[in-house]
Amino acid sequence: TRVLVLNGPNLNLLGTREPGVYGADTLADLEARCREHGAHLGLTVETAQSNHEGVLIDHLHAWGALHRTGQAIGVVFNPGAYTHTSIALHDAIKGVAPMPVIEVHLSNVHAREAFRHHSWIAPVAAGSIIGFGPEGYRLALDALARRAAAGLS
Ligand code: DQA
Repeated sequence: TRVLVLNGPNLNLLGTREPGVYGADTLADLEARCREHGAHLGLTVETAQSNHEGVLIDHLHAWGALHRTGQAIGVVFNPGAYTHTSIALHDAIKGVAPMPVIEVHLSNVHAREAFRHHSWIAPVAAGSIIGFGPEGYRLALDALARRAAAGLS
């Protein structure tokens, strides 16, 4: 079955963007590692990144349709700064329920500026994995694989 690893704004700059905060791996490195880890779990990992809120919403809708027809088990989503601003992404995730969306942040947003402490995504996510760097994406894939194996939506 298929899983989408979806990254939001500015995550295309990984590797050169604030490497002290986000690490030296590029987005391509991170996506390749997700595909590899997914293969170990028997999952086909697809990847997408967009700097545009509406494009992220379109991806969620498309994958919600795949989930409804049993072709996908969920989405691993790092919404970047839209985490802290986007009611539209909150509504989109609600709109594709019960497809599980796992929120991932590379950095520990709670140890950073106050404006990063609130998430519009957390209350509609299946769960959130925060502060473990690229490892967080692998933990999220593990969680989705286990949910699917347990017969949870
Ligand atoms: C981020 C945290 C956000 O606050 C920030 O705007 C990002 C990246 C993370 O992965 O740590 O772009 O989502």
